Amino acid sequence: MTCVGPIKAVILVDNRAGGDLLAEHGLSVWIEVAGRRMLFDTGQGIALPANAAKLEFDLRSVNTLVLSHGHYDHTGGVPLVVERAPAVHVYCHPAVTGPRHSIRDGVARSIDMPQPTRTVFDRLLPEQLHLITSPVELAPGIGLTGPIPRRTEYEDVGGPFFIDGAGRLADPIDDDLALWMRTEKGLVVIVGCSHAGLVNTLHHACQLGGTNRIHAVLGGFHLGGASEDRLNRTAEALRDIDPDLVIPCHCTGERAVEKLKQALGERVLFGEAGATFCFGEMDRPEPNET
Ligand SMILES: [Fe+2]
Ligand SMILES: [Fe+2]
Repeated sequence: MTCVGPIKAVILVDNRAGGDLLAEHGLSVWIEVAGRRMLFDTGQGIALPANAAKLEFDLRSVNTLVLSHGHYDHTGGVPLVVERAPAVHVYCHPAVTGPRHSIRDGVARSIDMPQPTRTVFDRLLPEQLHLITSPVELAPGIGLTGPIPRRTEYEDVGGPFFIDGAGRLADPIDDDLALWMRTEKGLVVIVGCSHAGLVNTLHHACQLGGTNRIHAVLGGFHLGGASEDRLNRTAEALRDIDPDLVIPCHCTGERAVEKLKQALGERVLFGEAGATFCFGEMDRPEPNET
């Protein structure tokens, strides 16, 4: 089985930001692997150009754009990316363009893909828009999960999400997908909001990646409104999965981060815009003592 690495991953957009970078509710991760320059999600589209410029990442060089799901805080920057990189290949589930709402205290809020992103989608050439409904391998050792089976009974989509504004049709967020990359140390998994459940996502990635080793998982875990029971069981499952590194960002929630830290200690790292990670590098050999 092919392994890739090293993988450079830089958080370009997150709810938190280091230095003079912009923070916004959203996620975008720059990934360099095996000669590819990929963007995983685009945030809302405000922080992305500013942060990419400050961090000196040229969006014109992006050749692969993955959208984890259709929510506005992951798809708002699509027009900008396509404008800068007109030949970019876009990978997502066909349901990304569907209507969706969040309903809190009886008030419905539209949280679907913004209109400018829809317009750009309509103009993409058929050969550059890859609508996926099953797992795909982008290259040897690099894949997208496609829809993630919901197996655990304690995980759900993580919020009051509905297709319609009246709240009659629950949104299963079927478009939710994750990116996996196989390294010598195990899989590196990048998630958007983990609406399919973090544990479901990691199990499915392992199945597809042909290993039960998770080296690192980075992204939004969407556990802000999770019950104590779900947090405990998620932490317990993560202890069993035994990843080397966990980097919660975006919509994970402070309580969940604390819970994961209790379970996994220093393996939980701080994620924010500007944070840079290099995964899958082989350890340097110990210097010869003689
Ligand atoms: Fe999100
Ligand atoms: Fe989301």
